[in-house]
Amino acid sequence: MIPTPGPPGRFGLRNLVRFSSDSLGFLRRNTDEYGDVVRIKVLNTDFYLINHPDHIEEALVRKAKVMGRDAYIEILVYTLGLGLLTSDGDLWKRQRKLMAQAFTPRRIRSYADTMVDVVQSELHWRADEVINIHDEMSRLTMEVVARVLFGTGLDARDIERVHTAMETINEYYANSPEAVFRVPTQVPTPRNIRLRRAVQQIDEVVYRMIARKRAEGLGDDLLSTLIAACDDGGQGMTDQQLRDEAVTLFLAGHETTALNLAHTIYLISKYPEVERTLLAELDGVLDGRSVTQDDLKQLPYADRVLKEGLRLYPPAWTTGRAALEDVELGGHQIPKGAQLLFSQWIVHRDPRYYPNPEAFDPDRWLAPEMKSLPRYAFFPFGGGPRVCIGNHFATMEATLLLVTIMQRYHLELLPEQRLEVAPSVTLRPKGPGLKMRVRPRPARASRNATEPARVSRAS
Ligand code: HEM
Repeated sequence: MIPTPGPPGRFGLRNLVRFSSDSLGFLRRNTDEYGDVVRIKVLNTDFYLINHPDHIEEALVRKAKVMGRDAYIEILVYTLGLGLLTSDGDLWKRQRKLMAQAFTPRRIRSYADTMVDVVQSELHWRADEVINIHDEMSRLTMEVVARVLFGTGLDARDIERVHTAMETINEYYANSPEAVFRVPTQVPTPRNIRLRRAVQQIDEVVYRMIARKRAEGLGDDLLSTLIAACDDGGQGMTDQQLRDEAVTLFLAGHETTALNLAHTIYLISKYPEVERTLLAELDGVLDGRSVTQDDLKQLPYADRVLKEGLRLYPPAWTTGRAALEDVELGGHQIPKGAQLLFSQWIVHRDPRYYPNPEAFDPDRWLAPEMKSLPRYAFFPFGGGPRVCIGNHFATMEATLLLVTIMQRYHLELLPEQRLEVAPSVTLRPKGPGLKMRVRPRPARASRNATEPARVSRAS
């Protein structure tokens, strides 16, 4: 066995402080200094940072049976209950099979029109208006999940309520310090009270929707599919289980996609030649009409643009596992109970796989050498049996939304804006976020589309 190197620390307090104050920098420095497998003690727990794609694949895929849920995910249990993201073992196995019924290719395709509908009816940016692109994308993707999940069953008041509650929940986790510094959710601090109220509000809406659908008959929305889903013994989900899964889909499903869109739109604004190529593709294929699911295979450049956005700014910047047994990875012995950490942020910028890794270059994906890219050099959706169940949903949604937005608007980053990211549960823009100025395009995306249309300010 190879001895595993790592930063010193008997109890790991210093490592905890360094990780908490600058997580991305801490992972980067340790990777640069110690290599592909790094042992980091944090408060008497051994963390193993795994940076080689082959070892990541071994852990997530081939040794998945001896990998449990990581400890960090615990902080989500208060809000999500035991849904797919937070459960483990037999419960997870059963739920994954049931949930898969709502994510078949046919079901996913059926959500496409709702996605386009939402973005077309909700986008009301005015000429020259300044928007916060992350907030705007969150609003859109939340509305998409609400409509796909509940159909047209939610009224405007419910949507507003769910929206406000989700913002509180997002804000809670975005500013959540490491588990050890956190005041337990039961303690009535103002933050915890806000979280509790938000969860109650979501519960009220979700339980009401479940009761209504059970009483009035099922539709073709996602919640109806989950209510109808049965395991091999003919058993469906309880109301509590349905609630946990619905809230999980809300949380896991909107913020990640919003971040992929916000970061990609930011990158496009910094690379005018990418915007030009993208618009030429949209123009050629769509000629100004609305995009549909059938168009997606003819929009390979849009696909590469979003993929490159996911590479540079992976919304899930780490994926974790807990070793359920002693396990060997790439010649290193990992003891039972250790936490394994695979960081998309680190691996996606590894110069061994990505020349000039910091550059936003959608066409890098066409280079012949990318054909031999190790499978887990790019893993924005994790991998193995627990791979993101919404990955195809997310890819389709991001493309449909990006295309519709780009057809209608040129978004200009305000001059003083710089993207700095804050890693919390997801990787988000730091502080007040990214401000962009809205320039509507002429009705049909023109080939000189980076030249904004001159439109007078709407009242
Ligand atoms: C760009 C968007 C998204 C990204 C980057 C993303 C990323 C991830 C990652 C990294 C995981 C953990 C995988 C692992 O542990 O190996 C995950 C799990 C999950 N994601 Fe996503 N996700 C996205 C969108 C979505 C959407 C749209 C949905 C639902 C509509 C969704 C639902 C879930 C669920 C339920 C899990 C838990 C799966 C399980 O443990 O079985 N995600 N996602």
